[in-house]
This record gives sequence, structure tokens and C-alpha cells, in this order.
Amino acid sequence: MQVHLAGIFSAIVLAASTAMAEAQRQTLPFNQQWKFQLGDPADASQPGFDDSTWRTLNVPHDYSIEGPPGKDPSKMEGPFDPDSPGSSHYDNRQQKAVQDGGGGYLDAGVAWYRKTFTPPASAKGKRVAMVFDGVYMNSDVYLNGKLLGNHPYGYTPFQYDITDDLKFDAPNTLAVRCNVEQPCSRWYSGAGIFRPVHLVITDPVHIAPWGTYVVSEKAGADSNDFTVTVKTTVRNDSDAEQKCKFSTKIFDLGVRGADQESRDFNNAPLGTAVAEATSDEQAIPAHSEATLSAKCTVSSPHLWSVDSPHLYRALTTVSEGGQPTDAVTDRIGFRTIEFTADNGFLLNGKRLQIQGTCNHHDLGALGSAFNTRAMERQLQILKDMGDNALRTSHNPPAKECLDLADELGFVVMDEAFDEWKRSKTKMGYGRFFDDWSEPDITAMIHRDRNHPSVVLWSIGNEIPEQGAKNGGEMAKRLSDIAHREDPTRPTVSACNNPNSAVRTGFADALDVMGINYNINNYDVDHKDDRKLIASETASALSTRGEYGLYLNDDGQVKIKIRPDTQCTSYDLDRPPWGHTAETSLLALKKHPWVAGEFVWTGFDYIGEPTPFPWPARSSYFGIVDLAGFPKDRFYIYQASWSDKPMVHLLPHWNWEQFAGKEIPVWAFTNGDSVELFLNGKSLGTKEAKDLVQTHYEWKVPFEPGTLKAVAKKDGKEWATDEVTTAGKPAKLELKADRSKIYADGDDLSFVTARVIDKDGHVCPDADNEIKFKLDGPAAIAGLENGDPTNHEQFQGVDSRKAFHGLALAIVRAQETGGTAKLTATAEGLEPATVNITLKPEAGK
Ligand code: GAL
Repeated sequence: MQVHLAGIFSAIVLAASTAMAEAQRQTLPFNQQWKFQLGDPADASQPGFDDSTWRTLNVPHDYSIEGPPGKDPSKMEGPFDPDSPGSSHYDNRQQKAVQDGGGGYLDAGVAWYRKTFTPPASAKGKRVAMVFDGVYMNSDVYLNGKLLGNHPYGYTPFQYDITDDLKFDAPNTLAVRCNVEQPCSRWYSGAGIFRPVHLVITDPVHIAPWGTYVVSEKAGADSNDFTVTVKTTVRNDSDAEQKCKFSTKIFDLGVRGADQESRDFNNAPLGTAVAEATSDEQAIPAHSEATLSAKCTVSSPHLWSVDSPHLYRALTTVSEGGQPTDAVTDRIGFRTIEFTADNGFLLNGKRLQIQGTCNHHDLGALGSAFNTRAMERQLQILKDMGDNALRTSHNPPAKECLDLADELGFVVMDEAFDEWKRSKTKMGYGRFFDDWSEPDITAMIHRDRNHPSVVLWSIGNEIPEQGAKNGGEMAKRLSDIAHREDPTRPTVSACNNPNSAVRTGFADALDVMGINYNINNYDVDHKDDRKLIASETASALSTRGEYGLYLNDDGQVKIKIRPDTQCTSYDLDRPPWGHTAETSLLALKKHPWVAGEFVWTGFDYIGEPTPFPWPARSSYFGIVDLAGFPKDRFYIYQASWSDKPMVHLLPHWNWEQFAGKEIPVWAFTNGDSVELFLNGKSLGTKEAKDLVQTHYEWKVPFEPGTLKAVAKKDGKEWATDEVTTAGKPAKLELKADRSKIYADGDDLSFVTARVIDKDGHVCPDADNEIKFKLDGPAAIAGLENGDPTNHEQFQGVDSRKAFHGLALAIVRAQETGGTAKLTATAEGLEPATVNITLKPEAGK
């Protein structure tokens, strides 16, 4: 199918200001109406190839989540292949390949995308670039049958200048081949054009890709003013020398409102500039580029912080002979950062305890196809827990993830690699490291260095070369590249063998030493005066809604840590190298010189189902499950990290089989005492002195009814929580996280389905099969319930079993306004419906 970009996109020409419109840069989304086919048909790169039978879809897209058939399709369960090559690793001791579920039992292989398009007439005489934010992986991109290039790493952005190969008055064919040779990753990677694509049209005299670098520094130790230095790389692709200069105007954007949509916040008019930096004029020879520099001062700007993420916009306009030729806008923030050896991390001169989580890039049932709203929902859920930091483990994230971190107030450890030359998986990045590590880390830094949220460049996670003789040298090379490209942020690497890293000089090449687990090293490495961060902690294991209570031979109720293929939700389980959430939190409290922690992980992710093999297919590490439902562990962190009044009780209160027996009851609060009541009768108050690690414990003889916790702070009621014995499943209930979404083909509403009794209490053991039906201009994009062993399809299906009473339906907007109605039915239960309004986009 041929698409006329001019028609479709004329309305979305990036015209954030008149100056930009004058400057004529057009950034056109290039995501719709691609043709897609699994496999490797001959000649698929050629324009004449017949793709009429191929599927039509929009990118970002992930073909692995759909469950491509493995070698033996008869063995598949839903999308999962028990023999998936992506889930095996070679075990040296056993001398054979072992299935470890790393890749989530989802296959990938080779697939092609094709798109036929005619550029807008306005592109004639301009430069045209095709910009990919991420293609997994080892992509070959062809235009009209000619190979533009190969890009191995799936997580770094890349672009091709296609001007010279582009036909202006006839259809062009772009073809992208993805080659995912598994095993290539220790976690679920996804496969395909999994991040947005743009077509960028500029004047021949234009700002180079990621060519603006805006650095703000305090004007003096006692000054509230900031000096802004802008370096802009200008490319002259015309046939003559051009005299160019640029100016950057700074505009105050403000803080995104709590109830404000990101796009509405960003669409605010520019207003009046608070400062302007103008460079000198410089002659740039034909077909070359030069980096120009300019400075200005912004007096007493509002500071960016995690609690008040105040943003500004820097509009950089390049002109030639007085005529603007190109402009870009960068969002920036004013803040100072410093890591210290004795007092952790300072943001704007004040200590900030880094309370962060590590997260992989998959978005649950959506797979690895990036979606801004899905990412935003993850960050909002984490923020509600008191999370103020994100580690993009173990690779550069989608660009929009950092935009959201800027807006929502997260400091980010932006990570380049999970491995260098010594691969962790047979087809891993090690194959490309020698040729690509410099371009890849440079691309990450160029794209990301204007984000105020980014505070650390991580050159790698648990790099096997930590212990190698040349490990120090290798680390220094990457650290030096990072310093060269951005001297304003420290480098870090997450060390799982800190002692080896110190011994080989690896640790000396880092500005900040990251320690994974190894809590004894918080003392050991502090003695060397190193700046430390707990780059990975906990790896605690749990399943939402599973408690593992059983009656032992003495007739007592006990907790089974790993009931069947699940992990108890009392914070008791961890792998041998990890710790429970509470132990890690306390270790950090005792070592205030450590800048804080990144918990493994905020969200469950597909793959790495430690501690179980098949049938488990996704992780148990998440504080929040794969559907986005918080586990009990969420409240351990909320109690430690957040000031929002809270108390949380566990377990649920449906233990009729243990009538009269003592049930272990735990409570977490950020108050200073908790009184527990069963059916209105007090079971006593516990205070700080009674804490077991960070929680309170009771043994409560079971009787049906309501267990209630009342937390107090400074003698006053602070928060309450209760669990009530639920009756039989009677009805369904649907709740949308957003009942109004944009009719843009991309926006999402996350709808929680709950199985409830006649009085509205969630039935904690309900596993009813729920059928969803959608009427109106939207579609079900994915279904999930948080059970790491579930083998139902994520996508293309309309039913999901409830898991511990809950299931999630992800509703995706189409491009027409109106009302979408989601109905949920289940045998024997009263059905439920929810309406979602599809609203036109702002300005349309
Ligand atoms: C760490 C590793 C993570 C994840 C985690 C599981 O050692 O860095 O990627 O595998 O273990 O506990």
C-alpha cells in the first residue's frame, strides 16, 4: 500500500513556533501502514517484490510477543515454545544447552517490514533522513533495493540520510530486515521495529543528528544564576560554502500538572524567552559540518528536581545569511548533580536518597513494542510508591521514556550494555562489541545528554571483563568516550564482583562504582573512598496474591516459600545472590554514604523466570506484576520511601480452611504505630520497638470478617487498611485507569477487571475465565493477569482467566472519536461494562 506522507502528515509538521515553521524542519511520524512478514523471502528488499499478501500493521511492533511458531509448532502453548532457542544457555558444567527461560520461551527469527511512500513535494531540494529509535535487531535497511546500512544493536538509535536515493515523484520502497538469532539476550528482548520511526526533512544547511548539546552550570558557588553553553553541530550539505550562525532561546515551560496530559503540557505556547545565546558566524565548507558554540545566562531559573521537575525549552535556530534554515527544540532543566564518597548523591546541593528501580523495556502484554502511555503508566505507578529513580537495565531506553522521566521527576542511570566482548549468550552483543561499542555508546549519549533526568552513564552491567586482566583498560576506554561526549555526568558500571573490579583496575576507571548485591562491599569499598551506588539490590521473589499458607504436621499454619511454581508474597524469598526487600532497605539505611539503590525490579518482565523453569515464563522479581498490579512488596517500599500516609495489611482474609488457627499477619506503614482489629476487637498496638525488620507481625486466629489496621503518627490517626473475608464470586467489575483517551491510534486505557462477591469484595482465589467484548472505535491490544506461569496468548484473543481475582485488558484507541464500550462476562457472574471516551487530539 502506498502512503502519501504529505496528505497524512501536513497537520503534524513540527511547528512548535513560527520560528520553527520558518525554519522548515519537518519531523514526520513514519509508523503507519507497514507491510510485515515473518521469514526471509528472497528479494524482499526489492521494490518490485509483491507484498500484497503481507500483513498491514503500524509500528512500533513486536513480532516475538505474537508467538512465531518454533521448530515444532505442535509443542507450542499459546505464544510459548518450550524449546525456544531464546531461552537456552550453554551450561559449561553439564556440557549441554539448558533451558532457563531467559528469553521467556518466545521465538523470534528473521522478519521483514516494507513500506511504500512518496515524500511530500516540500521535500524537493531538501535533505531527507530516516530515523529509527530502535530496531531489534541486526537490521538491514534498504531503500529502493539499495542497502542503506546494517545496525546490529537493537537498543540504540540510528539514521540514514536517504536524499540521494529518494525518488520525489514516484513511490519509494523502504524495506527493513530484522535478524534475531537466539539466544541473544538474558531476558525477553522482543523483535522488530519496536520503537518509533521518523522521516526528517531539513534544509541542506541543518542541525546534525542529535546535534544540539545544551549544558547548564551554576554561574558561581553563591549564585542562583546558571550559565548555559550550547554547542550546535551544523551540517552544510549544499554545494557551496555557507556562513552560518545559530541562536538558542530559552523558554520557561514549567512543571507538568498532576492531572495534565503530557502532550497538553508540551503543546503549551513558547511564551517569552528568558535568555538567548547567539554564536559567532562561521564559514562551513560544502558537504561538511562544524560545531558552533554560544553562551548565555539564565537568572535564577526554577530548579529541576524529582519533587518539582521544572522544565524549560531551548529553541535552537540555525541561520545562513540571516535566513533561518533549521531549528530544533530541546527540553532542558536546571539542576546540579554531584556524587560524593561520604554523603551519597547531591541534587541541587542537597542529599537525595536514590530510591530507584531497575526495569527492562518490555511492557507486559504489549511486548517490547514501545508505547508512550504504557511507559508513563509504569512510571506513575512507581512514583506512587515513592520511587524517584530509574535504571534502564541493561540498555538505552526509548527516547520517550526519558522525556517522561524528565516530566515526572526521576533521576536516571542510562545504561549502554549488558555485555562487552565476552558474551553472556551465544548470539549476544559480544559479536559486535569491537566494531560497535564506540558508535553505540556515542549514539546513546548524543541522543540523551540534554535530559535533566539523566545523571549517570552506565557503561555496562555485570561485565564479565570486571575480572579480566585488561578489564581496567576496557572500562577506561568506554569511560573516556563518555567523558569526551559529555563531561558533565559521571560514569558507572554495575559490578557483581566488586572485589575483582577493584583488583583489575576496572573500578578505578569509573567515576561512581556500582555494586550489585554484595552488601558487604558497601563497607569494603567505602574504605577506598570510592563513590558508591547500589546499582542493583534485592532480587526478592514473589507472586501477587500467593501466600503459600499450609497446615503443618503439628496443626500450625506455616508459610511455604515456594508453593508449586509460585513464590510467597510475604517478603521471604530471594535467590542465593539476592536479599529480601526489607534486608536491602535496611542495608542502605545503615550505609548512608551509598547514594541509594536500584531495586531489581520495579515491574515484572517477560523471561528470566528465576527460580522456576517452564512452565514459568516471566519474572517473579517485580515489585509490581506483569499486569501492573502491585504486589504486597510495593507497600514495603512505599512505607520506606513515601510520605503519603499509608498502612498495608497482608494476607487476604479468606482462610476458612484454617478456622481458629493462627494466621501470620503483617503490616507496613510510614506511621509510627499500628493497632490491629478483628471484627471490631482490638488485638493490640505495635510500635517502632516491635518492628520485625521494617514490618509489624501478629498471629491472628482466623475467624471470618474484617481485619483492620489503624496506623497512627504523632498520636493521631494516619492511615487505615482492611481485608474482609469475601463471599462467593458474584459479579465482575471493570475500572479504567483513564476513561478519556486520545483518538490517535496509539493511546491506551488500562482496564482492571475484578471478580467480586455480592458486597464488592475481591475474591482472592477467583480464577474465572473472563470474556471481553469491545464495541466502538478502539481495540483490545493485550490481556494479562500477572500469573508468571500463564500460557494464554497476550494478544489477538478476547478472554483471560482471572488470577487471584484480577485481570487486565489494555484498550487501544483507533483514530476516530466517540465512545468505546468494554464489556466483561464470565459464566455465572453478573457482567460489567465500562465506557471510554475517545477525544480528538489537542489542536486537531
Ligand atoms: C543480576 C543481573 C540482572 C538479573 C538479576 C536477577 O545479577 O544483573 O540482569 O539477572 O541478577 O536476580
